[in-house]
Amino acid sequence: MVKIAPSVLNADFTCLQNQVNQAVAGGADWIHLDVMDGDFVPNLTFGPMMVQTLRRITDLPLDVHLMMYRVDEFIPQFVEAGANTLTVHVEACPHLWRTLETIRKLGASPGVTLNPATPVTILEPILELVDLVLVMSVEPGFGGQSFIKSSLKRINWLAEQKEKYSYDYDIEVDGGIDKNTAPIVCNAGAGVLVIGTAIFKSDDISQAIGEIRAGIR
Ligand code: DX5
Ligand code: ZN
Repeated sequence: MVKIAPSVLNADFTCLQNQVNQAVAGGADWIHLDVMDGDFVPNLTFGPMMVQTLRRITDLPLDVHLMMYRVDEFIPQFVEAGANTLTVHVEACPHLWRTLETIRKLGASPGVTLNPATPVTILEPILELVDLVLVMSVEPGFGGQSFIKSSLKRINWLAEQKEKYSYDYDIEVDGGIDKNTAPIVCNAGAGVLVIGTAIFKSDDISQAIGEIRAGIR
């Protein structure tokens, strides 16, 4: 079954616990956290302390998307804080093989991601190492952007590689996913949907998840 990973980036932080609980009640599978360093992306968010906070709120897997440089220095802190999956950007990691192996050695699941203009074939050498491949379907940095349609070809390619070489990774999509785009990316082969605005900016968080889920069944 397709997993839904609400991104707390657009949640109301004055009542984060309540918002996350509503997402859990609505059937969220993972919670997605967007870490931004103000350097790799033009925005700043939060670090390991927020992972630790979410860890105290929910038992769901914490899916941490690291939009940052100098990842290697911070991996131990994120694992310690309770991250289940750590996803790094290929554009930000010069020694990607080592970075992914370090994440696994420390006990988390390694994930990799790439910006919309980075050729997806760059991932070929490391597909065997990862548990998750995240296709960015908007430029990373902000919620509320429109889905970039060429992401579908990238999802297709990853699904083909997975089938051909019997790889184990989940294919996750992040950016501009709502009840209209969700069925389209699922048909292309996506298995995990990161959704921010369409969940946390809706009138009813649980209901929004239910409606998206109904469209992809
Ligand atoms: C963007 C983040 C996303 C973002 C998605 O840089 O990686 O996770 O929260 O938000 P929506 O669903 O609003 O596109
Ligand atoms: Zn994200």
